[in-house]
Amino acid sequence: MTDPALRGRKLLLGVTGSIAAYKTPALIRLLKRHGAEVQVLTTPAASHFVTTETLATVSGRPVLTDLFANHNTWTQHVELGLWADLMVIAPLSAQTLAKLAHGFADSMLTASVLAARFPVLICPAMDRDMYEHPSVRANLKRVQTYGYHVMEAAYGELASGLTGYGRMPEPPAIFECIVKLLLNRASLAGKVALVTAGPTREPIDAVRVVANYSTGSMGFAMAAALARRGAQVTLVSGPTLLETPAGVDRINVETAAEMYDAVKAHAAADYVFMAAAVADYAPAEPSTYKLPKMDKAHTIRLQPTKDILKDLGRKKRVKQVLVGFAMETHEGMAKATHKLQNKNLDWIVLNYVNEEGAGFGIGTNRVTLIGPAGSAEPLDLMPKHEVAEALLQRILREAPHCA
Ligand code: CTP
Repeated sequence: MTDPALRGRKLLLGVTGSIAAYKTPALIRLLKRHGAEVQVLTTPAASHFVTTETLATVSGRPVLTDLFANHNTWTQHVELGLWADLMVIAPLSAQTLAKLAHGFADSMLTASVLAARFPVLICPAMDRDMYEHPSVRANLKRVQTYGYHVMEAAYGELASGLTGYGRMPEPPAIFECIVKLLLNRASLAGKVALVTAGPTREPIDAVRVVANYSTGSMGFAMAAALARRGAQVTLVSGPTLLETPAGVDRINVETAAEMYDAVKAHAAADYVFMAAAVADYAPAEPSTYKLPKMDKAHTIRLQPTKDILKDLGRKKRVKQVLVGFAMETHEGMAKATHKLQNKNLDWIVLNYVNEEGAGFGIGTNRVTLIGPAGSAEPLDLMPKHEVAEALLQRILREAPHCA
């Protein structure tokens, strides 16, 4: 029986200069037997361990190595970056890993990784002492921050005669990992998601606003993670400098009132992630003119904005998953749990603004996911896109990736 996760899927398989390359024809056969199309990309060193003819014959396609082999098709890496559903690099040598970590684009393989719009799975394989070297460990950590999935090397006898970690996992194990990633990618196909992100700006006059320090990065990471799984995502964003993630529809708003209207129009979503830092108050009488400087103290009267999330909670549809975010300075658990109940949420994501590595304007976050029965699951300090992945995996109850 063929695995439906593979049927009609397009895969890029990168092969580099590591002895384990002799196993890749078996992996290609397995993938093809289950209905996948496989385009092999090799680095020049790969041909020391497996012949180009073997790879071309087994995959049924010409193997691509040199970026400039054909002057008319030198942009092929960009096309490949759009063509595939997933890229697997197995085996990945220490040399090519270092290139990936630093963004080299000196072969069709490395250039295609940079152009990839799809998940990338890497299977490092090398001798034990190389695998344990701090530079290799650092490079593996670094590529994980780019969102690459790492399948750690297996333990066992190595070509050098040493025993330890460094073996490429066997083709069936890599196959299983590919299936999991493809299923995760498609797990929200046909679902609709709504995400809010960023600050709101409430006008005081024609040139001044009440705002906050939010940059929107957590909400944008959530939107990207949802889109990667095939959901139809609308991102309602306050003013930020961030680029719209691939496959996401973006609506720009300024004020809490505008955000409320945009959210209301898309409130029928299956998944709602309310990551925006919405102003709780707005100037009651904003001036359309620039207010002149006054010599005495000046009072601006503020009035409460609508609590968008509370409104969604009140009208929550059956089966809708509603997720709030709580950024606190103290007594976080108690405050976040109160918001979870008060706003009728399924989940709330708590973080402390004053904790190192968390808060506004930094690339990382450390959050605790509080669930329906008051369960609290602290996650490690991670880059925000990994936090978004981990939150989604947990909320969707997916198995963790085979890393
Ligand atoms: N939120 C919202 N509309 C508002 C204020 C907040 O939808 N007017 C949402 C936020 O996007 C977040 C959650 O509510 O998902 C918690 O926001 P927070 O400001 O921490 O909660 P509040 O209920 O406003 O409580 P407080 O500011 O007193 O901590």
